[in-house]
Amino acid sequence: MDIKNREIDEKLARLRIRDKDSDSRKIWGDVLDERTILTLYRLLKRGFIEAIGGAISTGKEATVFYGLGEDAREIAIKIYRIETSDFREMEPYLAGDPRFDNIKRSRSGIIYTWTQKEYKNLKRASNAGVRVPEPITSMNNVLLMEFIGEEEVPAPHIKDVDMALEETFEKIIVNLRKLYTGARIVHADLSEYNILYHHQPILIDMGQSVTISHPNATSFLWRDIKNLSKFFERRGLEDLNEKDLFNRITGGL
Ligand SMILES: Nc1ncnc2c1ncn2[C@@H]1O[C@H](COP(=O)(O)OP(=O)(O)OP(=O)(O)O)[C@@H](O)[C@H]1O
Ligand SMILES: [Mg+2]
Repeated sequence: MDIKNREIDEKLARLRIRDKDSDSRKIWGDVLDERTILTLYRLLKRGFIEAIGGAISTGKEATVFYGLGEDAREIAIKIYRIETSDFREMEPYLAGDPRFDNIKRSRSGIIYTWTQKEYKNLKRASNAGVRVPEPITSMNNVLLMEFIGEEEVPAPHIKDVDMALEETFEKIIVNLRKLYTGARIVHADLSEYNILYHHQPILIDMGQSVTISHPNATSFLWRDIKNLSKFFERRGLEDLNEKDLFNRITGGL
């Protein structure tokens, strides 16, 4: 075994993670810098995490792991990678949001702020009755939230399920209306990849979501509506009027 693998194995052992096949070693190697190990440690010690499992997904900025939280409840652990994430893309979504005026400009500072932003966005959405994963806590670059799925199987994306088209579309619009008029945020990266289906549609991935006062909020909302209606039209829904959808979602605000 080379030195790099031995190092990763030692890190995994320190966190009591038994997940050593060669694919996941690579994933863990990208995620586990010293600061992230300390953060996971603290979350373990405080009882927010009971066990860390395998990766559900590796994206551009974050890796999402399966885990067990307090009372062995299933959780999703989203870890933003400090060294290997594309953090330059985060800035336009942070600048212009009054909640994050004083952000530190270091790489880790931006990523920590981003993680906290996703936690706050999920919290606001959830408080407004939008179906999103319930956030549990966030610390540095780690966000813990409700696991969508059951018995270790994550829910599929809407693009991969047979669903009642009209009913699901309608539910998404109702969620977006609550998000805009209640939580007062715009998702800003809505697509068939960021909506899961578990008995109903569930919006995920809100790191980039912005308050409706953000200078680009309206153009982000139009983009969201276009992505969504294009997907549902490809699936067979007809006569989607984007202007009507915009008016319904913003509710005259
Ligand atoms: N709470 C959750 N429960 C179950 N699965 C989840 C949860 N959150 C995220 N996932 C899975 O992990 C994937 C990536 O999560 P998310 O979209 O939040 O991160 P991301 O950084 O945007 O990744 P990408 O760059 O691939 O879009 C999701 O598409 C989904 O399959
Ligand atoms: Mg995503």
